[in-house]
Amino acid sequence: MSNTVSVFGLGYVGTVTAACLAGRGMAVIGVDAKTEKVDAVNSGHSPLVEPGLENLVRQGHSSGLLRATLDASEAVRGSSTSLVCVGTPSLSNGRVQMDHVRAVAAQIAAALRESPKAHTVVFRSTMPPGSTRALVAEFFSGTTTRVLYVPEFLREVSAVHDFLEPSLSVLGTEDGESTAEALEGLGSFDEVLRWEEAEMLKYACNAFHALKAGFANEMGRVGKFLGLDARRVMAALGRDERLNISRAYLKPGNPIGGSCLPKDVGVLAALARSEGLKLPLIEQMMDSNQAHLDHLTRLVEATGARRVGFLGLAFKAGTDDLRGSPMVSLSETLLGRGHSLSIFDPSVNLTRLIGANEAEIQRRMPHLARLMAASAAEVVSESEVIVAAQPCASLEELRDCVRPDQHVIDVNGWRELETLPWRYEGLCW
Ligand SMILES: NC(=O)c1ccc[n+]([C@@H]2O[C@H](COP(=O)([O-])OP(=O)(O)OC[C@H]3O[C@@H](n4cnc5c(N)ncnc54)[C@H](O)[C@@H]3O)[C@@H](O)[C@H]2O)c1
Repeated sequence: MSNTVSVFGLGYVGTVTAACLAGRGMAVIGVDAKTEKVDAVNSGHSPLVEPGLENLVRQGHSSGLLRATLDASEAVRGSSTSLVCVGTPSLSNGRVQMDHVRAVAAQIAAALRESPKAHTVVFRSTMPPGSTRALVAEFFSGTTTRVLYVPEFLREVSAVHDFLEPSLSVLGTEDGESTAEALEGLGSFDEVLRWEEAEMLKYACNAFHALKAGFANEMGRVGKFLGLDARRVMAALGRDERLNISRAYLKPGNPIGGSCLPKDVGVLAALARSEGLKLPLIEQMMDSNQAHLDHLTRLVEATGARRVGFLGLAFKAGTDDLRGSPMVSLSETLLGRGHSLSIFDPSVNLTRLIGANEAEIQRRMPHLARLMAASAAEVVSESEVIVAAQPCASLEELRDCVRPDQHVIDVNGWRELETLPWRYEGLCW
C-alpha cells in the first residue's frame, strides 16, 4: 500500500502514467468512470491507441502491478498517492469544464474522511491558474492531505517516451518554496513553482508551441509567395541557439524597440498586406507591443502623479540609439498629456548625438535636451513616479533619495528596486 499509487482517469495521460509507473515497479490502481476502460486494463489491454502502451499495459497486468477499478474509495484506501489525470475539456464559451476534476477531488476527500490517513493528491490535469487552490479550499482545507500540482507535458504518439523522459518536470506547491524533493514514481523536478504558476506554465508552454508552429507556417507562406523554400530558412533559423532557440527574448518586461525589430516586422507585415497574403501573427506583433506600452502608460497615469522620472531612455541599456525607443514614445505621450518629465540615461548624451539618432530626436522630441538630468538621483528627487526602464544606477545611489510617497514602475525586471522604501510595482508581474 505505501508504494501504491492511484491514477484517476484512464485516458491518454492516465493510462500512460499508470502503465509507465507499473513498468517502474510500482503497484498502480487505475480508476475510471467508464466500465469499458476499467475492463480493458483488467484484461491486459490498453483502452486507447498509443505506441508502446499496449505492451506496457499487458506487462503491468501480467506482473500483477497494474489493475483498474470503478471504485474511487477503494483505490484511495489502497494507495498513498492519487494522481488526477481526468479530462478538462473546453466548454462552448471557451471556459474549462472542471466537473471531472471536482468530482474526483470530492471522491478522494470523501474516502479520506471515511478512513483518515496520510495521503498525497497530485493534480496533473491541465486547469486554469487558481484551480488547485480552489480545489484545496473546497475539498481539503483543514485536512492533512498534501496537495500538489504537477503539469504533464507528454505528447500523444510519443507519450510513453515523453512520460519516461520528460522535457520539463515542475512541481507546483502552495508556496512555491518547498524543495524539489522527488515524488514517488514521478522522479525529481527541475523547478518548484507556486500552484498557480505551475498551472499557468502548462498553458504558456502550449501557447508557445502554437505560436512557434503558426510562425513557421506564416514564414512558409511568405517563402512560397516569394518562390523560395522556407523550410530551409527555418532550418537555418533553428541552428541559432543563442538568440533563436534559446531563452533570449523570453523575459517579460520592456516593450520591444530599437532600429531593427519594429522596422523589419513592419516590412514583413507591409509586404504581406500589399500582396494579399494573410499573416495575422506578424501583423499583430506591433499591436501587441503597443498594447504593452499602453499598459505602462495606464500604470503611470493610475498613480495620479504629474512629475514623471525615467531611468533609461534608449530601447535597451548601454546604447545611445533612440530610434524606435518605447520610452521616447511614452515620454511623448506623457508630455502631450501635461506631465512634466525628468530623464536619465547614462548612455545618452544629447549633445553628442549625430546622424540618424540626432535626426530622430529632432523629428520627434526637439525639446528633449532640457528634460535630461545629470544623474539618476536628480531624476528620483524630482519625480513622483519613476519609470525604471533600465538598471542604470546603483542601489546605493538610489537609496539616499527615494521617498515612501514615491511610486516606481519596474519595466525591466530590476527586482532589487523592491527592496527600497518606495511603492514598487512591476510592469507585468
Ligand atoms: N492528451 C494529451 O496529450 C495531454 C497532454 C498533457 C496534458 N493533458 C491534460 O491531461 C488531462 C487528461 O487528458 P487526456 O487526453 O488523458 O483525457 P481523456 O479524455 O483521454 O481521458 C480522461 C479520462 O478521465 C475519465 N474520467 C472522467 N471523469 C472521471 C471520474 N469522475 N472518475 C474517474 N475517471 C473519470 C474519462 O472517462 C476518461 O477516460 C486533461 O486535462 C488534458 O488537458 C493531455
